[in-house]
Amino acid sequence: MHRLIDRLEDKHCLTNDEWIALITDRSEAEYLFERARFTAKQYYGNAVYTRGLIEFTNYCKNNCYYCGIRRDNRNADRYRLSREDIMDCCRQGYELGFRTFVLQGGEDLYYTDERLVDIISEIRGHYPDCALTLSLGERSRESYQKLFDAGADRYLLRHETADEAHYKKLHPSEMSYENRIKCLYTLKEIGYQVGCGFMVGSPGQTIESLAKDMQFITELQPQMVGIGPFVPHHETPFSDETKGTVELTLYMLGLLRLLKPNLLLPATTALGTIDPRGREKGILAGANVVMPNLSPTRVRKKYELYDNKICTGDEAAECRTCLNRRMESIGYELAVDRGDPAQQ
Ligand code: SAM
Ligand code: FES
Repeated sequence: MHRLIDRLEDKHCLTNDEWIALITDRSEAEYLFERARFTAKQYYGNAVYTRGLIEFTNYCKNNCYYCGIRRDNRNADRYRLSREDIMDCCRQGYELGFRTFVLQGGEDLYYTDERLVDIISEIRGHYPDCALTLSLGERSRESYQKLFDAGADRYLLRHETADEAHYKKLHPSEMSYENRIKCLYTLKEIGYQVGCGFMVGSPGQTIESLAKDMQFITELQPQMVGIGPFVPHHETPFSDETKGTVELTLYMLGLLRLLKPNLLLPATTALGTIDPRGREKGILAGANVVMPNLSPTRVRKKYELYDNKICTGDEAAECRTCLNRRMESIGYELAVDRGDPAQQ
Protein backbone atom coordinates (compact mmCIF):
# COMPACT_ATOMS: atom_id res chain seq x y z
CA MET A 1 0.00 0.00 0.00
CA HIS A 2 3.03 2.22 0.48
CA ARG A 3 3.33 2.25 -3.29
CA LEU A 4 -0.25 3.46 -3.82
CA ILE A 5 0.06 6.13 -1.14
CA ASP A 6 3.26 7.40 -2.79
CA ARG A 7 1.58 7.30 -6.17
CA LEU A 8 -1.38 9.32 -4.87
CA GLU A 9 0.97 11.89 -3.34
CA ASP A 10 2.84 12.09 -6.62
CA LYS A 11 0.07 12.06 -9.21
CA HIS A 12 -2.98 13.30 -7.25
CA CYS A 13 -5.17 10.65 -8.85
CA LEU A 14 -5.65 6.89 -8.89
CA THR A 15 -7.61 4.43 -11.01
CA ASN A 16 -10.84 3.00 -9.64
CA ASP A 17 -9.18 -0.35 -8.87
CA GLU A 18 -6.35 1.42 -7.07
CA TRP A 19 -8.79 3.40 -4.94
CA ILE A 20 -10.63 0.21 -4.02
CA ALA A 21 -7.37 -1.52 -3.07
CA LEU A 22 -6.15 1.45 -1.01
CA ILE A 23 -9.44 1.90 0.85
CA THR A 24 -9.79 -1.85 1.48
CA ASP A 25 -6.31 -2.39 2.92
CA ARG A 26 -5.77 0.28 5.56
CA SER A 27 -2.71 -1.30 7.16
CA GLU A 28 -0.51 1.69 6.24
CA ALA A 29 -2.74 4.28 7.88
CA GLU A 30 0.06 5.70 10.02
CA TYR A 31 2.25 6.23 6.97
CA LEU A 32 -0.69 7.88 5.17
CA PHE A 33 -1.27 10.30 8.09
CA GLU A 34 2.41 11.17 8.20
CA ARG A 35 2.41 12.08 4.49
CA ALA A 36 -0.93 13.92 4.81
CA ARG A 37 0.31 16.00 7.78
CA PHE A 38 3.51 16.79 5.93
CA THR A 39 1.50 17.95 2.91
CA ALA A 40 -0.91 20.06 4.98
CA LYS A 41 2.05 21.70 6.75
CA GLN A 42 3.69 22.55 3.42
CA TYR A 43 0.60 24.49 2.37
CA TYR A 44 -0.79 25.79 5.65
CA GLY A 45 1.99 25.48 8.25
CA ASN A 46 0.56 24.89 11.69
CA ALA A 47 -2.45 27.17 11.11
CA VAL A 48 -5.94 25.75 11.50
CA TYR A 49 -8.60 27.85 9.82
CA THR A 50 -11.86 28.50 11.63
CA ARG A 51 -15.35 29.03 10.25
CA GLY A 52 -18.11 30.41 12.46
CA LEU A 53 -21.17 28.29 11.81
CA ILE A 54 -24.55 29.97 12.09
CA GLU A 55 -27.35 27.40 11.96
CA PHE A 56 -30.10 29.83 11.13
CA THR A 57 -33.09 27.58 10.42
CA ASN A 58 -34.00 23.98 11.14
CA TYR A 59 -37.11 23.99 8.94
CA CYS A 60 -36.59 21.69 5.96
CA LYS A 61 -38.76 20.64 3.05
CA ASN A 62 -36.64 17.53 2.47
CA ASN A 63 -36.92 14.12 4.04
CA CYS A 64 -33.42 12.61 3.86
CA TYR A 65 -33.53 9.31 5.74
CA TYR A 66 -30.45 10.10 7.86
CA CYS A 67 -31.17 13.64 9.00
CA GLY A 68 -32.63 14.68 12.35
CA ILE A 69 -34.28 17.84 10.97
CA ARG A 70 -36.07 16.01 8.13
CA ARG A 71 -39.59 17.18 7.31
CA ASP A 72 -41.30 14.16 8.88
CA ASN A 73 -39.68 14.56 12.28
CA ARG A 74 -42.74 15.98 14.05
CA ASN A 75 -40.83 16.17 17.32
CA ALA A 76 -38.26 18.62 16.03
CA ASP A 77 -38.74 22.00 17.70
CA ARG A 78 -38.50 24.29 14.66
CA TYR A 79 -36.90 27.76 14.72
CA ARG A 80 -35.71 30.52 12.44
CA LEU A 81 -33.19 33.20 13.33
CA SER A 82 -34.10 36.77 12.46
CA ARG A 83 -31.79 39.06 10.53
CA GLU A 84 -30.91 40.78 13.81
CA ASP A 85 -30.09 37.42 15.44
CA ILE A 86 -27.81 36.56 12.54
CA MET A 87 -26.07 39.95 12.68
CA ASP A 88 -25.56 39.45 16.44
CA CYS A 89 -23.87 36.10 15.77
CA CYS A 90 -21.56 37.75 13.21
CA ARG A 91 -20.71 40.61 15.56
CA GLN A 92 -19.81 38.23 18.34
CA GLY A 93 -17.94 35.98 15.92
CA TYR A 94 -15.92 38.84 14.50
CA GLU A 95 -14.83 39.91 17.98
CA LEU A 96 -13.73 36.37 18.72
CA GLY A 97 -11.53 36.30 15.61
CA PHE A 98 -13.71 34.61 13.01
CA ARG A 99 -13.21 35.87 9.44
CA THR A 100 -15.51 33.37 7.73
CA PHE A 101 -19.19 32.99 8.51
CA VAL A 102 -21.14 29.98 7.35
CA LEU A 103 -24.89 30.36 7.04
CA GLN A 104 -26.31 26.87 7.19
CA GLY A 105 -29.87 25.65 7.33
CA GLY A 106 -32.45 23.19 6.17
CA GLU A 107 -34.11 23.87 2.81
CA ASP A 108 -36.53 26.41 4.21
CA LEU A 109 -38.83 28.09 1.68
CA TYR A 110 -39.35 31.05 4.03
CA TYR A 111 -35.88 32.24 3.01
CA THR A 112 -36.68 33.55 -0.44
CA ASP A 113 -33.95 35.04 -2.61
CA GLU A 114 -35.12 38.46 -1.52
CA ARG A 115 -34.77 37.71 2.20
CA LEU A 116 -31.41 36.04 1.70
CA VAL A 117 -30.06 38.85 -0.49
CA ASP A 118 -31.02 41.23 2.29
CA ILE A 119 -29.12 39.26 4.94
CA ILE A 120 -26.10 38.61 2.72
CA SER A 121 -25.79 42.27 1.68
CA GLU A 122 -25.92 43.38 5.27
CA ILE A 123 -23.19 40.94 6.33
CA ARG A 124 -21.09 41.91 3.31
CA GLY A 125 -21.51 45.62 4.10
CA HIS A 126 -20.51 45.21 7.76
CA TYR A 127 -17.70 42.72 7.27
CA PRO A 128 -15.94 43.38 3.95
CA ASP A 129 -12.86 41.50 5.16
CA CYS A 130 -14.78 38.28 5.87
CA ALA A 131 -15.68 35.36 3.64
CA LEU A 132 -19.32 34.35 3.56
CA THR A 133 -20.18 30.73 2.98
CA LEU A 134 -23.68 29.47 2.28
CA SER A 135 -24.95 25.97 2.93
CA LEU A 136 -28.63 26.08 2.01
CA GLY A 137 -29.03 23.01 -0.17
CA GLU A 138 -30.30 22.85 -3.73
CA ARG A 139 -31.55 26.02 -5.42
CA SER A 140 -31.90 27.24 -9.01
CA ARG A 141 -29.03 28.75 -11.01
CA GLU A 142 -30.79 32.13 -10.88
CA SER A 143 -31.00 31.95 -7.11
CA TYR A 144 -27.34 30.92 -6.67
CA GLN A 145 -26.38 33.77 -8.99
CA LYS A 146 -28.38 36.37 -7.02
CA LEU A 147 -26.84 35.24 -3.72
CA PHE A 148 -23.36 35.38 -5.25
CA ASP A 149 -24.00 38.86 -6.62
CA ALA A 150 -25.14 39.96 -3.17
CA GLY A 151 -21.75 39.00 -1.74
CA ALA A 152 -21.64 35.28 -0.85
CA ASP A 153 -18.36 33.76 -1.96
CA ARG A 154 -18.41 30.10 -0.95
CA TYR A 155 -21.01 27.33 -1.01
CA LEU A 156 -21.06 24.00 0.79
CA LEU A 157 -23.24 21.29 -0.69
CA ARG A 158 -22.21 17.79 0.24
CA HIS A 159 -22.91 15.42 -2.62
CA GLU A 160 -23.53 12.77 0.12
CA THR A 161 -22.46 9.89 -2.17
CA ALA A 162 -21.25 9.68 -5.76
CA ASP A 163 -22.91 6.28 -6.17
CA GLU A 164 -26.34 6.83 -7.65
CA ALA A 165 -27.81 3.57 -6.31
CA HIS A 166 -26.51 4.45 -2.85
CA TYR A 167 -27.95 7.98 -3.15
CA LYS A 168 -31.37 6.40 -3.67
CA LYS A 169 -31.00 4.43 -0.43
CA LEU A 170 -30.29 7.61 1.51
CA HIS A 171 -33.01 9.81 0.01
CA PRO A 172 -36.68 9.52 -0.94
CA SER A 173 -37.46 9.39 -4.66
CA GLU A 174 -38.48 13.09 -4.71
CA MET A 175 -34.76 13.94 -4.48
CA SER A 176 -32.41 13.38 -7.37
CA TYR A 177 -28.72 12.58 -7.52
CA GLU A 178 -28.53 14.22 -10.91
CA ASN A 179 -29.78 17.55 -9.62
CA ARG A 180 -27.42 17.51 -6.63
CA ILE A 181 -24.41 17.04 -8.89
CA LYS A 182 -25.72 19.61 -11.36
CA CYS A 183 -25.99 22.16 -8.54
CA LEU A 184 -22.33 21.67 -7.66
CA TYR A 185 -21.18 22.31 -11.23
CA THR A 186 -23.49 25.33 -11.48
CA LEU A 187 -22.06 26.82 -8.29
CA LYS A 188 -18.57 26.35 -9.66
CA GLU A 189 -19.48 27.97 -12.97
CA ILE A 190 -20.91 31.00 -11.18
CA GLY A 191 -17.60 31.49 -9.40
CA TYR A 192 -18.21 30.27 -5.85
CA GLN A 193 -15.48 28.43 -4.00
CA VAL A 194 -17.28 25.11 -3.74
CA GLY A 195 -17.35 22.38 -1.11
CA CYS A 196 -18.80 18.91 -1.63
CA GLY A 197 -18.58 15.98 0.77
CA PHE A 198 -20.04 12.82 2.16
CA MET A 199 -20.77 10.92 5.33
CA VAL A 200 -18.49 8.03 6.19
CA GLY A 201 -20.30 4.81 7.10
CA SER A 202 -23.76 5.87 5.95
CA PRO A 203 -26.14 2.90 5.55
CA GLY A 204 -25.46 0.99 2.33
CA GLN A 205 -22.05 2.60 1.72
CA THR A 206 -19.46 0.24 0.26
CA ILE A 207 -15.76 0.53 -0.55
CA GLU A 208 -16.87 0.88 -4.17
CA SER A 209 -19.05 3.88 -3.32
CA LEU A 210 -16.15 5.52 -1.46
CA ALA A 211 -13.96 4.93 -4.52
CA LYS A 212 -16.62 6.70 -6.60
CA ASP A 213 -16.56 9.61 -4.14
CA MET A 214 -12.82 9.96 -4.68
CA GLN A 215 -13.24 9.81 -8.47
CA PHE A 216 -15.99 12.40 -8.34
CA ILE A 217 -13.87 14.74 -6.22
CA THR A 218 -10.97 14.30 -8.66
CA GLU A 219 -13.29 15.39 -11.44
CA LEU A 220 -15.06 18.28 -9.67
CA GLN A 221 -11.89 19.73 -8.11
CA PRO A 222 -13.70 21.50 -5.27
CA GLN A 223 -11.92 23.92 -2.94
CA MET A 224 -13.39 22.23 0.16
CA VAL A 225 -14.56 18.75 1.11
CA GLY A 226 -16.63 18.15 4.24
CA ILE A 227 -16.64 14.60 5.53
CA GLY A 228 -17.73 13.20 8.86
CA PRO A 229 -19.05 9.94 10.22
CA PHE A 230 -22.71 9.11 9.82
CA VAL A 231 -24.28 9.24 13.30
CA PRO A 232 -27.83 7.93 13.75
CA HIS A 233 -30.64 10.15 14.97
CA HIS A 234 -33.40 8.51 17.02
CA GLU A 235 -36.28 10.14 15.07
CA THR A 236 -35.22 8.97 11.60
CA PRO A 237 -35.69 5.77 9.56
CA PHE A 238 -31.98 5.11 10.18
CA SER A 239 -32.25 5.26 13.97
CA ASP A 240 -31.06 1.67 14.41
CA GLU A 241 -28.24 1.78 11.89
CA THR A 242 -24.59 1.59 12.94
CA LYS A 243 -22.58 4.78 13.09
CA GLY A 244 -19.49 5.41 10.96
CA THR A 245 -16.09 4.80 12.50
CA VAL A 246 -13.36 7.20 13.57
CA GLU A 247 -10.82 4.96 11.93
CA LEU A 248 -12.32 5.05 8.42
CA THR A 249 -13.14 8.78 8.66
CA LEU A 250 -9.53 9.62 9.52
CA TYR A 251 -8.27 7.41 6.73
CA MET A 252 -10.50 9.15 4.18
CA LEU A 253 -9.28 12.54 5.46
CA GLY A 254 -5.68 11.44 4.88
CA LEU A 255 -6.49 10.27 1.34
CA LEU A 256 -8.26 13.55 0.54
CA ARG A 257 -5.27 15.59 1.68
CA LEU A 258 -2.98 13.70 -0.71
CA LEU A 259 -5.54 13.81 -3.51
CA LYS A 260 -5.72 17.58 -3.37
CA PRO A 261 -2.92 19.10 -1.27
CA ASN A 262 -4.40 22.59 -0.85
CA LEU A 263 -7.90 21.36 0.00
CA LEU A 264 -9.80 23.04 2.82
CA LEU A 265 -10.67 20.04 4.90
CA PRO A 266 -12.60 20.32 8.16
CA ALA A 267 -12.23 18.08 11.18
CA THR A 268 -15.99 18.01 11.71
CA THR A 269 -18.25 18.26 14.73
CA ALA A 270 -19.59 14.78 13.91
CA LEU A 271 -16.05 13.44 14.26
CA GLY A 272 -15.75 15.26 17.60
CA THR A 273 -19.07 13.73 18.62
CA ILE A 274 -18.07 10.08 18.20
CA ASP A 275 -14.62 10.58 19.74
CA PRO A 276 -13.76 13.16 22.42
CA ARG A 277 -10.46 13.84 20.62
CA GLY A 278 -11.90 13.37 17.13
CA ARG A 279 -11.14 16.88 15.93
CA GLU A 280 -7.52 16.72 17.10
CA LYS A 281 -7.16 13.34 15.41
CA GLY A 282 -8.70 14.79 12.26
CA ILE A 283 -6.08 17.55 12.11
CA LEU A 284 -3.33 14.98 12.68
CA ALA A 285 -4.74 12.95 9.77
CA GLY A 286 -4.49 15.92 7.38
CA ALA A 287 -7.48 18.21 8.05
CA ASN A 288 -6.89 21.97 8.41
CA VAL A 289 -10.24 23.56 9.28
CA VAL A 290 -12.61 23.55 12.27
CA MET A 291 -16.14 24.90 12.24
CA PRO A 292 -17.31 25.85 15.72
CA ASN A 293 -20.84 26.97 16.33
CA LEU A 294 -21.83 30.65 16.56
CA SER A 295 -25.58 30.07 16.83
CA PRO A 296 -27.28 31.41 19.97
CA THR A 297 -27.14 28.78 22.73
CA ARG A 298 -30.95 28.78 23.00
CA VAL A 299 -31.32 27.17 19.55
CA ARG A 300 -28.26 24.91 19.51
CA LYS A 301 -29.98 21.78 20.73
CA LYS A 302 -32.70 22.22 18.13
CA TYR A 303 -30.32 21.87 15.18
CA GLU A 304 -29.87 18.23 16.01
CA LEU A 305 -28.86 16.42 12.83
CA TYR A 306 -27.76 13.37 14.83
CA ASP A 307 -27.86 12.19 18.45
CA ASN A 308 -25.52 13.56 21.13
CA LYS A 309 -24.11 16.38 19.00
CA ILE A 310 -21.37 18.14 20.97
CA CYS A 311 -21.11 21.81 21.99
CA THR A 312 -24.87 22.34 22.17
CA GLY A 313 -24.63 24.01 25.58
CA ASP A 314 -21.54 26.13 25.04
CA GLU A 315 -21.26 29.81 24.27
CA ALA A 316 -19.34 30.73 21.11
CA ALA A 317 -16.50 32.19 23.17
CA GLU A 318 -16.15 28.98 25.16
CA CYS A 319 -15.94 26.96 21.96
CA ARG A 320 -13.24 29.20 20.54
CA THR A 321 -11.17 28.93 23.73
CA CYS A 322 -11.76 25.21 23.95
CA LEU A 323 -10.74 24.63 20.35
CA ASN A 324 -7.70 26.85 20.73
CA ARG A 325 -6.57 24.75 23.67
CA ARG A 326 -7.23 21.55 21.76
CA MET A 327 -5.24 22.71 18.74
CA GLU A 328 -2.36 23.99 20.87
CA SER A 329 -2.19 20.61 22.60
CA ILE A 330 -1.18 19.07 19.25
CA GLY A 331 1.11 21.89 18.09
CA TYR A 332 -1.32 23.86 15.91
CA GLU A 333 -3.04 27.21 16.33
CA LEU A 334 -6.30 28.78 15.24
CA ALA A 335 -5.77 31.46 12.59
CA VAL A 336 -7.57 34.81 12.45
CA ASP A 337 -7.92 34.74 8.68
CA ARG A 338 -10.49 34.31 5.90
CA GLY A 339 -8.77 31.02 5.21
CA ASP A 340 -8.78 30.91 1.41
CA PRO A 341 -7.17 27.97 -0.38
CA ALA A 342 -3.39 28.18 -0.73
CA GLN A 343 -1.97 28.30 -4.28
CA GLN A 344 -1.29 24.81 -5.57
N1 SAM B 1 -29.66 21.72 3.83
C1 SAM B 1 -28.29 21.87 3.50
C2 SAM B 1 -27.83 20.76 2.59
O1 SAM B 1 -28.61 19.89 2.24
O2 SAM B 1 -26.68 20.80 2.17
C3 SAM B 1 -27.38 22.00 4.69
C4 SAM B 1 -27.78 21.34 5.96
S1 SAM B 1 -27.53 19.58 6.01
C5 SAM B 1 -28.32 19.18 7.53
C6 SAM B 1 -25.80 19.48 6.34
C7 SAM B 1 -25.15 18.11 6.31
O3 SAM B 1 -25.40 17.41 7.51
C8 SAM B 1 -25.61 17.16 5.25
O4 SAM B 1 -25.00 17.44 4.03
C9 SAM B 1 -25.25 15.78 5.81
O5 SAM B 1 -24.08 15.24 5.21
C10 SAM B 1 -25.01 16.07 7.30
N2 SAM B 1 -25.83 15.18 8.13
C11 SAM B 1 -27.18 15.14 8.18
N3 SAM B 1 -27.59 14.14 9.00
C12 SAM B 1 -26.48 13.53 9.47
C13 SAM B 1 -26.24 12.42 10.32
N4 SAM B 1 -27.24 11.72 10.84
N5 SAM B 1 -24.96 12.09 10.60
C14 SAM B 1 -23.94 12.79 10.09
N6 SAM B 1 -24.10 13.83 9.25
C15 SAM B 1 -25.35 14.21 8.94
FE1 FES C 1 -17.35 23.74 21.53
FE2 FES C 1 -15.08 22.57 22.57
S1 FES C 1 -15.48 23.32 20.60
S2 FES C 1 -16.89 23.23 23.59
